[in-house]
Amino acid sequence: MDTTVKSIKSVGVLCSGGDSPGMNAAVRSVVRTAIGLGIDVFGIYKGYSGLLEGNIQRLGLTSVSNIIQRGGTILDTSRCLEFHTPEIRLEAAHILSRKHIDGLVVIGGNGSFAGAMELHIEHGVPVIGIPGTIDNDISGTEYTIGFNTAVQTAVDAVDKIRDTASAHARTFLIEVMGHRSSSIALQVGVCTGAEHVVLSNQVINYDKIAGDIKKGAERGKTSSIIIVAEGEKSGLSYQIKEVLMNQYAIAVHACVLGHIQRGGSPTALDRLIASRMGYAAAHALHQGLQAHVTAINNGQLVMVPLAECLEGKNEAPEPELDLISALAI
Ligand code: F6P
Repeated sequence: MDTTVKSIKSVGVLCSGGDSPGMNAAVRSVVRTAIGLGIDVFGIYKGYSGLLEGNIQRLGLTSVSNIIQRGGTILDTSRCLEFHTPEIRLEAAHILSRKHIDGLVVIGGNGSFAGAMELHIEHGVPVIGIPGTIDNDISGTEYTIGFNTAVQTAVDAVDKIRDTASAHARTFLIEVMGHRSSSIALQVGVCTGAEHVVLSNQVINYDKIAGDIKKGAERGKTSSIIIVAEGEKSGLSYQIKEVLMNQYAIAVHACVLGHIQRGGSPTALDRLIASRMGYAAAHALHQGLQAHVTAINNGQLVMVPLAECLEGKNEAPEPELDLISALAI
């Protein structure tokens, strides 16, 4: 690996993995900041897959006009499993070098960052990661772009379900995204006044859930909402529904919110953090920083080594769970 720090004349920017609201605001910020610093910017379309296909276009100032408010990503994205292979990464490094791209900004989650780290270690490509995933599950940063919007979208949906649940005195299991992370489920649980939150990585206490639903009904509650964290794979809420109906004789409805949580216009918070992170990423590459991530720590934007961000985030769900159960009494 060549460790000489060369000055960056051109950067590539890509989005990878699941899209998240605010990615466009981050792309805009990277493009405008880098151009302002005299650096050429290339958009790499469809993540690492697009890089391998050479799907790369020069981006000018107007190419990112009018996108700060848009969900999805104008660069498109993909989950590129091939990128786990060293030979494929070598090919990617050759493509970058042929296109005279000196550094890369990768906007994505854990898998995307792992690919960026390998590209840096094996081929010396200067990379800066911008955490973009609704799951908020990247270690080394308190926040990932898109989380706030996803929570707000889920809260709006749960509020609507609460209306109809109350009208019919029903119980709903509402499954939210987040993969193995419980962050969305916990915040949605607090913000919707949920009666219960089920975490996918904990043993499900059916007696407690059933007891709480019955207790709530006895004290005059007209509905019960149980938020379910999806876990490894969507569908857990249907399993819970079966058990509650068959073993506890409690009638429940299950609703999986799904990809609605990934779309939509980003909230002001996501636009703000994305804009700050894009600006910091372009400056970091300009200053010769390599293999770092734009992170939020104690509310402040800091640059954290990419290696520190590659382990799954340790969650401490207990305080939120205690809060939810205290307020659902
Ligand atoms: O990582 C973001 C995420 O939306 C997870 O919350 C979810 O489990 C997963 O992506 C869904 O992925 P896909 O869109 O590929 O089905």
